[in-house]
Amino acid sequence: MRDFLNLAPLQSFTDHHFRNAFQEFMGDVDQFYAPYLKMNNDGTIKEGPKKDILPKNNPFEPVIPQLMACCPADFFIMADYIADLGYTEVNWNLGCPYPMVAKRDLGSGILNKPEKITHILDEVLPKTKLQVGIKMRMGYEDTNDILKILPELNAYPLTEIIVHARYGKQLYQGECDRHQFTNCIPLTNHRLTYNGDIRSVAEFRTLKTMFPEVNHWMIGREAIGNPFLFEMIQEDSEELPEDWRSVFESFLVQLLENHLSESDNQGNIFLKTKHYWEYFHAGVLKETGDYRRFKKLKNLDDYRTFLSDFV
Ligand SMILES: Cc1cc2nc3c(=O)[nH]c(=O)nc-3n(C[C@H](O)[C@H](O)[C@H](O)COP(=O)(O)O)c2cc1C
Repeated sequence: MRDFLNLAPLQSFTDHHFRNAFQEFMGDVDQFYAPYLKMNNDGTIKEGPKKDILPKNNPFEPVIPQLMACCPADFFIMADYIADLGYTEVNWNLGCPYPMVAKRDLGSGILNKPEKITHILDEVLPKTKLQVGIKMRMGYEDTNDILKILPELNAYPLTEIIVHARYGKQLYQGECDRHQFTNCIPLTNHRLTYNGDIRSVAEFRTLKTMFPEVNHWMIGREAIGNPFLFEMIQEDSEELPEDWRSVFESFLVQLLENHLSESDNQGNIFLKTKHYWEYFHAGVLKETGDYRRFKKLKNLDDYRTFLSDFV
């Protein structure tokens, strides 16, 4: 059974700058997801994510946009915008853990109110032009909400259910509840994707053994930390490709250029670059001295010089 590997949406990281650089130099991702669209208080959609999914910003493989809504009205505003751009599918975010979001029944905050989830689906699905998939955590306060939700979702024509195997209040801490994911498998008739802490080929193999019925996987933080991971998984190799440094250099140069093509705020871009490097440092550059050298850089000019000497 072939494995399908998806790139998770990570706000501020896997935007079109990252996705496009990734698609030029990396490979083996089957499906890209864009970070969520969200409403402003004045009833308009936030500008950043709106721009991120414009077709002109996504010239390569199609992405699936995502939205976060806790009522049908907001869902429709964002879904209409997405459909008007030509997309045919949207992913509904039921996973965002941040208290400011969750307390308004957005993201994972709605998971302990299954009647609210089904109400929104009842209202939205018959009328929207888009197909709808869901990305969810297992619950808000613990990982038990999902046991109630999955059987109810069987009644709806969803494209897929992606499960990040944590609960909302955990944020990104602690372990994934993989045992509970096993319990989820027989409860759904939808395509189920596993997400959470896939950090190495060895770990992927373990997960495949734990969930032999599953062949859709989503990778988030380690996709930034080690963008070669998809290729390594597909080749079942724990080794980085031989030419990884030169490919990674090209990727980093492209990532920088993509950011510069839309903004001349060098300070901001340098700050963003530092955030990416925290992931690289924990991932592909873990055993190299690159991060030590990177930390000494003061600005983007230094960074350009540093990249020209990277390989
Ligand atoms: C900085 C950050 C931003 C994220 N943004 C989103 C988002 O926009 N939409 C979403 O569904 N999940 C978002 N996530 C969650 C990831 O998509 C993913 O579910 C989570 O990181 C677990 O997968 P991983 O262990 O492979 O990283 C975000 C996670 C992080 C760390």
